Amino acid sequence: MTDTISPQTDVRLGFTSLEEETAVDRLPVTGEVPVWLTGALVRVTPALLEVGGRRLAHWFDGVAMLNRFGFADGRVSYKNRFLDGLAHRDAKAGQWRHAGFATDPCRSIFKRVQQIFSPDFTDNPNVNLARVGERYIAMTETPLPVEFDPETLDTIGHFEFADSVKSHVTTAHPHHDRERDELISYVAHFSRTSEYVVYGLPAGSSTRRVIARMPVREPAYMHAFGMSGRHLILAEYPLRVNPLKLAFSGKAFIENYVWRPELGTKLQVFDRETGAHRGTYATDAFFCFHHVNAFERETGELVIDLVAYDDPSVIDALYLDEHGPRGPLGRTELRRYTIDLDAGSVSSEALPGGHDVELPRIDYGRRNTRDYEFAYFAGWGGGQWIDRLVKLNVRDGARSEWSAADCYPGEPIFVREPGNDAEDGGVILSVVLDAAARRSFLLVLEAGSFEELARAEAPHHIPFGFHGQYFR
Ligand code: CO
Repeated sequence: MTDTISPQTDVRLGFTSLEEETAVDRLPVTGEVPVWLTGALVRVTPALLEVGGRRLAHWFDGVAMLNRFGFADGRVSYKNRFLDGLAHRDAKAGQWRHAGFATDPCRSIFKRVQQIFSPDFTDNPNVNLARVGERYIAMTETPLPVEFDPETLDTIGHFEFADSVKSHVTTAHPHHDRERDELISYVAHFSRTSEYVVYGLPAGSSTRRVIARMPVREPAYMHAFGMSGRHLILAEYPLRVNPLKLAFSGKAFIENYVWRPELGTKLQVFDRETGAHRGTYATDAFFCFHHVNAFERETGELVIDLVAYDDPSVIDALYLDEHGPRGPLGRTELRRYTIDLDAGSVSSEALPGGHDVELPRIDYGRRNTRDYEFAYFAGWGGGQWIDRLVKLNVRDGARSEWSAADCYPGEPIFVREPGNDAEDGGVILSVVLDAAARRSFLLVLEAGSFEELARAEAPHHIPFGFHGQYFR
């Protein structure tokens, strides 16, 4: 923490466990919540950061809680519940038995090998949520999604796949294929001959349709991937794991991945329709969690926008001590890669105004896979933590910001206003920690002007989280 931030108003409350589960019919609202908002924002947060009296090693290991803000007639309700999976039951009993991201149980090498090559993962789905047809799932990077009820927040159980696709890791950032009504995602299977498998999961089904397979000797850590109209893009950053070493290493999961910048980044492009591997496009080493968008130009080039880091030191920065993350967050750049698929060339540029931003969102329903104008982010300045929301016009670099004293916002989620055809015709929802008031609030911004419309005060602080979704 820097000396200029007072202990009463700094970010550490956002890294303090929340154990209370509650429900409030009507939150105090200042300003006006648009009456056309008639759904729910559901977010997942790592809410429990100590287990058995021990601080978890890394923010990404916090035990998953759902937070729901419901909207009707300008009123806002609130509810929060832990996801009742194995990780949560163990945590309540003071145990941490399953390997997480960077927090390991104490156990023998033999048990460790068993765990990595048999399906005994953590099911702590603290990263993101998705809807598959009429089912709602919470996800992390082990392939054990947990189904929940978006109204009551009851945990329904593991979402069991009915197929034989083998996997050890996956992404919590699936895409949605509008035409097929499929969730598109990928898994990596670790073995003597490891592979990536890209699949589609049709709405209403639990059987995955394999779109593409690709053998890989040392899989890359990929938190998300890109989808354009015609292609799927796995960006293999040079943060690589040797699966056999992983099995015998005794280190926590992510610590087995080695940064090897000499390998550069390989953009693996697959045809969405046929699954054919279109090509491997090599570029400089960088690291990334989040793709922003991807689309084809009329001239045929493939454009991939993502939030780039020079290296993966942000993972180290998010290890926890008793106060919060080790920090600092470092620098990011909204970067555009343009691939000439036939010539095999890749060029890149920093998009103006896209510095020190993360947790990108767009009008996904209408703009993903298409050329677009607006992206929304959580961002930071010189301080230790995210302290502003950013709207960026990716075409001309025009940047708007929202910030307030002692306030630390999370991911900005765009919700389109029905019947409004403007790309930014809607609102931005974000859960903000008000460190001075010692609680969080739901912020509603008008997406067009980026001006504040309303706040709804939560009854407690909500620990910082990653992602959420608005369900109509
Ligand atoms: Co993410």
